[in-house]
Amino acid sequence: MERTFAIIKPDAVAANQAGEIIAIAQKAGFRVAGMKMKRLSQLEAEGFYAVHRERPFYGSLVKFMTEGPVVVMVLEAPDAIKKWRDTMGATNPANAAEGSIRKRFATSIERNCVHGSDAPETAAVEIPFFFSATELL
Ligand code: RTP
Ligand code: MG
Repeated sequence: MERTFAIIKPDAVAANQAGEIIAIAQKAGFRVAGMKMKRLSQLEAEGFYAVHRERPFYGSLVKFMTEGPVVVMVLEAPDAIKKWRDTMGATNPANAAEGSIRKRFATSIERNCVHGSDAPETAAVEIPFFFSATELL
């Protein structure tokens, strides 16, 4: 079993798509090991996406991620990290596979409705960034 960290981003929460996205994850075989809704502070969003701080889109990304509430989740399944990346689809919805979450719900390369850890080392940092051990069930 493996765990990955997922975010339903502000665009999808505002569009009332969170329930549908959670249902897609569960139907795909993920177990929700942790979940909460919160609004990211400026510092949290900057820290979470620190790896992108030199990129031209960093400021805009932080603004987007703090514009409204998000749902943060820990999803569990065999090969969860790759499986959730496949379920999300490509970063740019124009390139996302048919049936993927981003193909269905994303409106641009930035406003792309979901996040998923991209490697085991990333998940190992991202999960404790938002969840304490007692919040994972
Ligand atoms: P994520 O980290 O959110 O799961 O997305 P990802 O791995 O597919 O994409 P990544 O390269 O890590 O980029 C992080 C997020 O930054 C926004 N972005 N905007 N305007 C742009 O060119 C651009 N490129 C990336 C997206 O919200 C992307 O998910
Ligand atoms: Mg990424």
